[in-house]
Amino acid sequence: MKIGISHIGIYVPEKIITNDDLSKMVDTNDEWIFSRTGIKQRHIARKDETTTDMAIASVKDLITKSNINIQDVDFIICSTVTNEQQFPSVAALVQKELKIPNIPCFDVGPACAGFVYLLAIAESFIKSGLAKKVLCICSEKFSDLVDWTDRNTCILFGDASTAFIVEENPETCTILNTIIGGDGTYSDSLQTIKQESGEHFVQMEGTTVFKSAVRIMDEQVRTVCEKSNKSLEEVDLLIPHQANARIMTSVADRLGIKAYMNVQNYGNTSSATIPLALFDAMKEGVITKGDLVVSPALGGGFTWGATLLQF
Ligand SMILES: CC(C)(COP(=O)(O)OP(=O)(O)OC[C@H]1O[C@@H](n2cnc3c(N)ncnc32)[C@H](O)[C@@H]1OP(=O)(O)O)[C@@H](O)C(=O)NCCC(=O)NCCS
Repeated sequence: MKIGISHIGIYVPEKIITNDDLSKMVDTNDEWIFSRTGIKQRHIARKDETTTDMAIASVKDLITKSNINIQDVDFIICSTVTNEQQFPSVAALVQKELKIPNIPCFDVGPACAGFVYLLAIAESFIKSGLAKKVLCICSEKFSDLVDWTDRNTCILFGDASTAFIVEENPETCTILNTIIGGDGTYSDSLQTIKQESGEHFVQMEGTTVFKSAVRIMDEQVRTVCEKSNKSLEEVDLLIPHQANARIMTSVADRLGIKAYMNVQNYGNTSSATIPLALFDAMKEGVITKGDLVVSPALGGGFTWGATLLQF
């Protein structure tokens, strides 16, 4: 049974905040941000634009760019940690907008590892017969979780949404293997903290996250390749979770695999980074037919995982 991804739709908000813009808001500068993170700019949603609005926009892009009849979808799963309501889920609100009645839908919140978790869930549902065509969405409005007066965190994140179909006989790429894992003992290292104002802001131990991300993403790539009987030499491209260029370069150097990055344009958009990077890499012709692409991720929890994709 060949299961994989058919098409990717994307949405990024129009408004861009550059490093120079940030230097007018907090004590920082372009040189510091770019040299430490590789980020040049990030897209930020309007105040009144919700995670669901962005999710719907990415699904509409998916519909426009593919031959998919969205009414054939029989399951919707959204990865997000920025739902505007506790419930209903973003997935349910997307279902309402698309007018597809009587199909199951729910959200998951593995933060930055959301894309690989979604693949693992969707593939298992298809293998078990629970679903045939799963609409997967990664939609994150991190600008709501950022304290715009905290230079340690506000430089890192951006907003975006992506949507894709997981199904049998996929049109874009086949999933050779996906592995997922996690360790809640690291929960204090990357988390949101409730403020007196009632808002929740991201807080992290930057060095712990950095070192863990390099070590764990390296391990995940080796494990998913081994499980698929593929050597690291056979892998054409590494498309990791796009959090920080230095993390990605360290992982790529350890593995000896060329990395693709677009973090400079979007910052860290949490679960949306990998599908957004897959989309851009295909558009730019960096991924071509027959390529073997590996995508590891690590997020708050910690959660982690990796997927090996055959294009
Ligand atoms: C956040 C991160 C970029 C910081 O880089 P770093 O090289 O480790 O920098 P440090 O934390 O050592 O900070 C060095 C100094 O720069 C300062 N600094 C922090 N943010 C700054 C900014 N935006 N502009 C200027 N200076 C800044 C710090 O206050 C510190 O000053 P001090 O030495 O006087 O205390 C890095 O730790 C990182 O990328 N971590 C992983 C983050 C991540 O990817 N999270 C999401 C994962 S899903």
